[in-house]
Amino acid sequence: MSASFQEFLNEARTMVERKLPLHIASMATEDQLKKSMIYSLEAGGKRVRPVLVLAVLDAYNLPLDTGVDVACAIEMVHTYSLVHDDLPAMDNDDLRRGKPTNHKVFGEATAILAGDALLTRSFGVIADVADEDVSAETKLKLIQGLSKAAGAEGMVGGQMADMEAENRQVTAHELASIHHRKTGDLLSFAILAGALIGGVSEVDQERLRLFGQELGLLFQIKDDILDVEGDASVIGKPVGSDLTNNKSTYPSLLGLGGAKEMLETHYQEAKAYLRELGLEETLLASLLDYVTFRDR
Ligand code: IPE
Ligand code: IPE
Ligand code: MG
Ligand code: MG
Ligand code: MG
Repeated sequence: MSASFQEFLNEARTMVERKLPLHIASMATEDQLKKSMIYSLEAGGKRVRPVLVLAVLDAYNLPLDTGVDVACAIEMVHTYSLVHDDLPAMDNDDLRRGKPTNHKVFGEATAILAGDALLTRSFGVIADVADEDVSAETKLKLIQGLSKAAGAEGMVGGQMADMEAENRQVTAHELASIHHRKTGDLLSFAILAGALIGGVSEVDQERLRLFGQELGLLFQIKDDILDVEGDASVIGKPVGSDLTNNKSTYPSLLGLGGAKEMLETHYQEAKAYLRELGLEETLLASLLDYVTFRDR
C-alpha cells in the first residue's frame, strides 16, 4: 500500500467517522435506540463504501467535503444491513467488526429497530445536504439510486435470494446474480454517488458503473474466501459462518482455488475498466487493490 493511499484512506475514514455519530446524536428519540445505532456505526469497519464516494471525487480532482454526508448515508445503509444480517433469524452471528453483534448487546427487538432507523435516517441525511453543496436535482437522483440499490431489486432482494439459495446447489449464473445484488449494488451505488456529486460525464458514469459491478462482485467473492481461510481476530467476524448456514458461495461452488481464480478474473476486468477511464493511476486503482488483496 503506497504512503499516499494510506494517507488518503486515513483522511477519508476520519472525515466520515467524525460526522457519522453526529447524524444520529442530533435526533430526538429514545436514548437506547440512539445508543444501539451509534454502537454499530462506531464499531469500526473498513468504510469501503464511503471511501469509494470520496475516491471518485478525488480521481476527478474534486473537493471531498461535498461528498461526506452522502458517504455517511451509504455507510448507514450498509451498517443497518449488517445488523440485520447478523440476527438469529438470518446468519445468527455473534461477532461483528471485532465486537459482539448489535442484538447480543441490545437484544433482538432493539437491533431490528436500530437497523430500521439507520436505513430511514440515511435518506434524510441526503435530503438535508445544503443545495449549495449538492443540487436538489442531484439529491433526488441520489435518493432514487440509493432506494433502488438498497431495496428489493438490489441489496434486500439479494439477501432474500441468498437465503433461498441455502441448502441447495445453484448455478454460477445464479450465484453471480446473488452477489451482484446483495453486495455489488450498494458498492456500485457508492461509485455512482461520487460521479453524480462530481458531475462526471454520462459516458464516464457508464464506465464507472461497469467498474463498480466488477468491484462489487469481487468484493463478495473475497468475503466468501475470507469466511473460509480468514482469521476471525483479523476479520472481526466468525470464520465458517457460511458453512454453518449451508450458504451458496464461490468456495462452496468452485472450491477455494476456483474462487480465487474468479477473484483474479474480476480483478483484471475491473482494472481494464479503470484503464478505459484513464484512471489507472488514481486512488481508485489503489482501492481496487486494497479490496482484492485485503485480509479483513
Ligand atoms: C461485509 O461488508 C458484508 C458484505 C457486504 C460482504 P464489509 O466487509 O464492508 O464490512 P465492514 O464494513 O468492513 O465491517
Ligand atoms: C451479507 O453477506 C451481505 C449484506 C448485504 C449484509 P454476508 O452474510 O456474507 O456478510 P458477512 O460475511 O456476514 O459480513
Ligand atoms: Mg448473510
Ligand atoms: Mg453474514
Ligand atoms: Mg460473508
